[in-house]
Amino acid sequence: TTNQSWGGRFSEPTDAFVERFTASVIFDQRLAHQDIQGSIAHATMLARIGVLTGDEREAIVQGLTEIRSEIDNGEFEWSVPLEDVHMNIEARLTQKIGIIGKKLHTGRSRNDQVATDIRLFMRDAVDVIEGELIRLREGLVELADREADTIMPGFTHLQTAQPVTFGHHLLAWQEMLARDHERLLDCRKRINVLPLGAAALAGTTYPIDRHMTAELLGFTRPAENSLDAVSDRDFAIEFTSVASLLLMHLSRMSEELVLWTSAQFDFIDLPDRFCTGSSIMPQKKNPDVPELVRGKTGRVYGHLISLLTLMKSQPLAYNKDNQEDKEPLFDAVDTVRDCLKAFADMIPAIEPKKANMFEAARKGFSTATDLADYLVRNGVAFRDAHEIVGQSVAYGLKEEKDLSEMSLEELQQFSGSINADVFEVLTLEGSVAARNHIGGTAPDQVRAAAQRAREVLHTL
Ligand code: ARG
Repeated sequence: TTNQSWGGRFSEPTDAFVERFTASVIFDQRLAHQDIQGSIAHATMLARIGVLTGDEREAIVQGLTEIRSEIDNGEFEWSVPLEDVHMNIEARLTQKIGIIGKKLHTGRSRNDQVATDIRLFMRDAVDVIEGELIRLREGLVELADREADTIMPGFTHLQTAQPVTFGHHLLAWQEMLARDHERLLDCRKRINVLPLGAAALAGTTYPIDRHMTAELLGFTRPAENSLDAVSDRDFAIEFTSVASLLLMHLSRMSEELVLWTSAQFDFIDLPDRFCTGSSIMPQKKNPDVPELVRGKTGRVYGHLISLLTLMKSQPLAYNKDNQEDKEPLFDAVDTVRDCLKAFADMIPAIEPKKANMFEAARKGFSTATDLADYLVRNGVAFRDAHEIVGQSVAYGLKEEKDLSEMSLEELQQFSGSINADVFEVLTLEGSVAARNHIGGTAPDQVRAAAQRAREVLHTL
């Protein structure tokens, strides 16, 4: 079959290579369900305004429903000469129901059709992605609650800084994802607007009811301006930008998980089912899942730049350039969905090695700030306290002793303001418990924060 849908004004067939070069059906067939959904709504609206008869609408809906089954069962024959998903389905419809099939395209163009299909596709994709994101956030909250008392070193510059609770660290991740979630839902609002009715660019001469079509398809409203409706791909860029930020966060988590599973940190164990081995080194267990998520972040950033560059300088309205939006967008959807699924499955399975975390926090003089704060409470100026503690740490490094392991006499060499009660602040438990305000790392605060997060998640 050659493409006769626009062949009227042409005097020679399309060059064979150009036909393949300009076709999109190999990738846009993924929009088949949305294309049929949009066509059924369009035909329904055309029937209600009297442009199609009720019987014609029935025949169209029946034909399209059969075509959907053919596609689902792998029986549909996709044709490259028919260029794209829209003309493949329309041609098959006409084959099935004859002349009535040719009426479906009344008051419509592929320009508003494709924009509608992508928005329907993206709305579904966002909903699936949101489901995985909620599952991941829930997993983090539950693990954080379980690990509210687990002490680990907190880092700045990747150097031991102050003790924190593992639960607090997990809830930091949860906060990052909560922002991504808000951005995702915000982006969905702008996806959920109906382009159909814009036709090629200027609207149509038929008395169409765009509010009806919008309602039939679950869109909040028809797009305001026909030129903008067919040319706008902001929502694709916004989604990919949300996905990029989200993956940036997952890649930061990945990096920490990779570090923590190393023999040098040895803070957590990831179950074998999330890891793979080495073909040469028999001892190896590699954290492939977080590594791959970290790696896949790059390709989604690439898609964001592709889409931004695709849209840059395009004059109004539709341009064929826009056909290039689909592959990056589909891949961004698949990648972010799969990465979220991998994380949502993996996070609850993390096995913290609490003794190792505790030991690491104990080794790094992580309560030095607590000692300085103690001195301040006993009347020493903070800068002087900083100096005194610095000297105590230098002594500890030489003697290979943590602050809490020094005797009172040893500590008193550096300041007369140190008394026996100092040991209460030098323990890791005392240090974390003391940071007992909203946003702080104290176990009670972590439990309260987990509870608040749980409540937010339950309202979704
Ligand atoms: N395959 C096209 C796309 O993906 C559909 C719209 C084509 N419109 C046109 N006038 N060539 O954008």
